[in-house]
Amino acid sequence: MRTLGSAPVVRLASIPLALATLLACGGSESTPEPTATPEAPTAKAEGPAVAEVPPAVKALFKPVAAKAVAADDAAKVTLGRQLYYEDRLSAGQNQSCNTCHQLDNYGVDNLPTSKGSFEDLGARNSPTAYYAFGHVAQFWDGRAATLADQAKGPILNPVEMAIPDEATAVAIIKSIPGYGPMFAAAYPDDPDPITYDHIADAIGTFEAYLVTPSPFDAWLEGKPTTMSAEARKGAEVFVQTGCTACHLGPFLGGSMYQKLGLVEAYETADVGRMEVTANEADKHVFKVPSLRNIAKTGPYFHDGSIASLDDAIALMAKHQLGKTLSPEDTSAIKAFLESLTGEIPADYIKPPEALASGDDTPAPMKKKG
Ligand code: HEC
Ligand code: HEC
Repeated sequence: MRTLGSAPVVRLASIPLALATLLACGGSESTPEPTATPEAPTAKAEGPAVAEVPPAVKALFKPVAAKAVAADDAAKVTLGRQLYYEDRLSAGQNQSCNTCHQLDNYGVDNLPTSKGSFEDLGARNSPTAYYAFGHVAQFWDGRAATLADQAKGPILNPVEMAIPDEATAVAIIKSIPGYGPMFAAAYPDDPDPITYDHIADAIGTFEAYLVTPSPFDAWLEGKPTTMSAEARKGAEVFVQTGCTACHLGPFLGGSMYQKLGLVEAYETADVGRMEVTANEADKHVFKVPSLRNIAKTGPYFHDGSIASLDDAIALMAKHQLGKTLSPEDTSAIKAFLESLTGEIPADYIKPPEALASGDDTPAPMKKKG
């Protein structure tokens, strides 16, 4: 597995601490009863009902609201959107960020692992670009600290977009006349604004607004929600089972690193974060993924080896918590996870028209021997 991108600056959450949290958060069998019942939704004259959120659920999650683009970011967002969909940033001019992170498809390609510009298969599953801005760091192993650092990786990754070096990427963008004014508008203080750093920064700024408000958000906000009673029950089961030892906060994950196979060993060739830190204790440690839109972003796990959400839930319970879930609990958790599927921001992600190539824009490259 090739590692690109700069070294992360975040510290690893320690495993013993995580276990302690697990036990504190309901990892034991004698979980206390929830203090509020979601069974009695207040009937409303029109639309779906408003249902009370149990305190245990309220305490562990937060809604994420769609945000309006800040005035300062407007030109960068327009540029970043253009670059996100730019095929000429790949060697074969056949791939953009959107090839593997399809924004009209919850930010994924639904493949176990993705093929690059030259048809080489990557080693890990493509995670969604939605809500990535909320993660403690980027990639399954956290090797990029920010979205802008992250965006520098795939363009030059030989099994992804496969551009040979930064200078080539910059030359390609400079050769497309339409980009000049867009970079000047986005970086007005820079006399020579088309740089690799700015390409990455603009893409990262565009990604910072990728949110999909969901029925779960509406529920947490005390608004009418289409969440079913089973899904609301599932939120409590998710907490009581101990899933929230790792998947918590506004993104239901993305906030820490944990070992895959914490309680019961999990067979995988990928050493995970150990590749970044060279620390044996980080073997099979991965960033805990966000579960927003999870029902739509399969197949699952870092290698995309788990096809169904039911299996992912069962494996998590077994390997992370040492538990076997009843069919009712699995079904409730699944209904809860389905309520995390949000609304795709169709206007925000609308692909712009491609800019015309200039006289110097190179032809697609061929794979080197
Ligand atoms: C060939 C498919 C492919 C292309 C093209 C691609 N990516 Fe990715 N992307 C991946 C894979 C695979 C990973 C996970 C790799 C890893 O963790 O080691 C990833 C990780 C990410 C992440 C981290 C998300 C997370 O949860 O950690 C972001 C953000 C991202 N890509 C954005 C982009 C952007 C922006 C571009 C365009 C500049 C891009 N990707 C191009 C496949 C691709
Ligand atoms: C000890 C921490 C921990 C606990 C507890 C935990 N998870 Fe996870 N979860 C992870 C990690 C780490 C991964 C990434 C696995 C990998 O690298 O393949 C993950 C992945 C997942 C995935 C797949 C995400 C994806 O994008 O492929 C789902 C679904 C999931 N967890 C649900 C659950 C559920 C449901 C529970 C409770 C039954 C749970 N998890 C408990 C740490 C945890």
